[in-house]
Amino acid sequence: MRVGVLTGGGDCPGLNAVIRAVVRKGVQIHGFEFVGYRDGWKGPLEGISKPLGIPEVRGILPRGGTVLGSSRTNPFKLEDGVERIKANLAGDGVDALIAIGGEDTLGVATKLADLGVKVVGVPKTIDNDLSGTDFTFGFDTAVNIAMEAIDRLHTTAESHHRVLVVEVMGRHAGWIALHAGIAGGANIVLIPEQPFDIDEVCAHVETRFKSQYSPIVVVSEGAVPVDGGDMTLQSGEKDAFGHVRLGGIGDRLAHEIENRTGAEARAVVLGHVQRGGTPTAFDRWLATRFGLHAVDAVADGEFGVMTALRGTDIVRVPLAEGTRELKLVSPEEYAEAQVFFG
Ligand code: F6P
Repeated sequence: MRVGVLTGGGDCPGLNAVIRAVVRKGVQIHGFEFVGYRDGWKGPLEGISKPLGIPEVRGILPRGGTVLGSSRTNPFKLEDGVERIKANLAGDGVDALIAIGGEDTLGVATKLADLGVKVVGVPKTIDNDLSGTDFTFGFDTAVNIAMEAIDRLHTTAESHHRVLVVEVMGRHAGWIALHAGIAGGANIVLIPEQPFDIDEVCAHVETRFKSQYSPIVVVSEGAVPVDGGDMTLQSGEKDAFGHVRLGGIGDRLAHEIENRTGAEARAVVLGHVQRGGTPTAFDRWLATRFGLHAVDAVADGEFGVMTALRGTDIVRVPLAEGTRELKLVSPEEYAEAQVFFG
């Protein structure tokens, strides 16, 4: 059997660990051959591929990024996108696809599976916002990077009696902010699921300054104020899946806090640092297991499914179920962090 592999959407630490596990088990145990499609759905759409065998996956386990490249190409934006993918897969002699991606890439996989393409999904995103799986790989690495930044910012904030606002990724879901905020001892955590009141934020800032410590505010890039005011900064630019490019909430918040409290406030935007570099042990472990189980699904002829972590088990769930809705932070989970505000 010939199996195509692709990685789509924002990159994330652990993608190479999945690719390595898929190829190692696929070749050694199942006797498969592989085709590496370049740059997400662009690869099968435009017929761009590269060889993918055991020599190509040697040494990639600890490397960030993806050896296959990625993009946010959406084949459903093109009239003949599906036909082109089917024709290119047939031309390459590819019988099945393993698509590694987040809500968008797996959303495309779900539709293609309905249209008869034999596809197995592997969920990835640093945002950890895919329902159907307890965790996605990449998230733990991002949280650890953000936590380390918060640890460092505590000491410099205290030296200068400043407020430091740390903007982390998370378009719709505040998982990175919540986990890194709790782990890093942030004084305020603001997430997209819970619109914030700027007066309350400033009150927490002032309380914190009454101690010998300085406030650290962790904010998700998608966080919004309660009144829907003018603090959400969106460039208006959209990707192929219709997402607006976010950014700027950290700076706006720091500015507002400074104006209202008189305390000096600075913003640090962690940005793509959270997605780059070597994965943590947890992410390598999860990504490797997802890869092993995805290639087993192909061997079993079970398509239209994605791998998922449930407790410590890897299970297969229908792609449609895994991509149906985003997994968001509940008010109860947020309340756990609120205990430490101020
Ligand atoms: O989906 C993962 C993610 O890192 C989001 O947290 C973030 O909003 C988005 O990707 C940024 O995408 P890009 O790198 O394409 O601007």
